Amino acid sequence: MEHVEVRLGNRSYNIQIGYGCLQHFGVAYTDLGLSKSVAIVTNPTVSDLYLKPVKQGLERAGCTVSVLTMPDGEEYKTLETAHGLYGGLIDAGVDRSSMIVALGGGVVGDTAGFVAATYLRGIDFVQVPTTLESQVDASVGGKTAVDHPLGKNMVGAFHQPRLVYIDTETLRSLPGREVAAGTAEVIKHGIIRDTELFKFLEDNLESLIGLELPPEDLVWVIAQNCRIKADVVSSDETEKGLREILNYGHTVGHAIEVVTEFKEFKHGEAVCLGMTAAGKIALDKGMWHKEDLDRQTELLRRLGTRIGVENLDPLQILDRMGSDKKVRDGVIRFVLPEAMGKVVTCDTVTRDEMLAGISHTMAVH
Ligand code: NAD
Ligand code: GLY
Repeated sequence: MEHVEVRLGNRSYNIQIGYGCLQHFGVAYTDLGLSKSVAIVTNPTVSDLYLKPVKQGLERAGCTVSVLTMPDGEEYKTLETAHGLYGGLIDAGVDRSSMIVALGGGVVGDTAGFVAATYLRGIDFVQVPTTLESQVDASVGGKTAVDHPLGKNMVGAFHQPRLVYIDTETLRSLPGREVAAGTAEVIKHGIIRDTELFKFLEDNLESLIGLELPPEDLVWVIAQNCRIKADVVSSDETEKGLREILNYGHTVGHAIEVVTEFKEFKHGEAVCLGMTAAGKIALDKGMWHKEDLDRQTELLRRLGTRIGVENLDPLQILDRMGSDKKVRDGVIRFVLPEAMGKVVTCDTVTRDEMLAGISHTMAVH
C-alpha cells in the first residue's frame, strides 16, 4: 500500500492506495479508531459491484452499517438528491458521531461529502473512490458540492474526509470512456506540476487507458496524482491562491458542461477541451512554447475524447464563463501554462483571445 498524507494540522488525513485492497477496507477503517456507526452512500452501479466487500468488511470489524443509494448520473448531483439523503440519514438514526462512507465516483463523492458537510451542521466522512477521476482528483482535497442548473458545483462546502481509501483494481470494471475522461485529470496534473508524470504519460498512455499497466505502476500513477493534489491542498486548502492551478482547463471546460446541460460531455472530456483552449490562449499571449502546446495536443489526441464539439457555439460558451465560480470582481480568470510542469493564473485574457481559444478547441478536436 502507498500512503500519501494531506497535511492540514489536526484535520490531516491519509490517502491509502493499493491494488485489490477493498476487502481490507474494514480493517484500515477501524485501525483509525473511526465511528462504529456507518452510513454508506453509493449508487446502484457501484453497489452491485463493490458494496458487499465494503459493507461486510465494516460489519466484520464491528460496525453497524446502513446503506443509502442515490441515482447514478451527474444530473442527480443536486440539492434534491441531498434532500433525499438527509431523510435517509434521519430514518437510519445517523447522529453527529456517525460516519458517512462515500463509495463511488466523483458524483457520489461530491454529493455524499456535501451531505456530510451539512447534515447536523457537519459530520465526518470517508471517501472510497472507484473511478479514475475520483481516485486522482475528486476524492482528495475536501471540495464537496452539488450542481445548480445555472452552474456546476455552485452550492458546496470545503469539508475534508477523514480517510481516502483507494483500490485501483476497481478501475477494471470502469467503461473505457470513463477511464479516458479520468486520464484527462492525470494529464492536467502533469502539465501543471509534474514533468516526470507527463513524460510517463507520453510513454505509457495507451497502457494506462487500456488498464494494461502492471498493478504497481497503476498504483504509482494514482499515488503520484494524489501527492500532487495533497501538496497543493496542504498549502492552500480553500483556494486563496495556489490551489487555483488545479483548475487548469476548467474555465472553458465548466462552461461547456453547463451549456450542454451536463449531458454531452464527461467532466474530464470537457477539461480536455478547456486545456486545448487555455493552451492556445497561452500561445497567443506569448507565454507558452509551440513545442509544449504540440506535446499537449498530441497527448490529448491520443486520449481520443473528441466528440460533439463542432455543434458548440463559442459565444454561448463565452457568455456562460461569466457566471463561473472562478470569476472574481467580474474578471474571468484563466490558468495558463508557462512551461511544462508550470502554470500561472491570469486575469488579463481579452475577449478576442478567449474566443480564439474556444474556437481552437473546435478546430483541433
Ligand atoms: P461519476 O461519479 O458519474 O462516475 C462515472 C460512472 O462510472 C458512473 O456511472 C458510475 O456509477 C460508474 N462507476 C463508478 N465506479 C465504477 C467502477 N469501478 N466500475 C464501473 N462503473 C463505475 O463520474 P466521475 O468522473 O467519477 O466524477 C465526476 C464528478 O466529479 C463531477 O461531478 C465533477 O465535478 C466531480 N469532481 C470533483 C472534484 C473535487 O475536487 N471535488 C474534482 C474533480 C471532479
Ligand atoms: N479539482 C480542483 C480542486 O480540487 O481544487
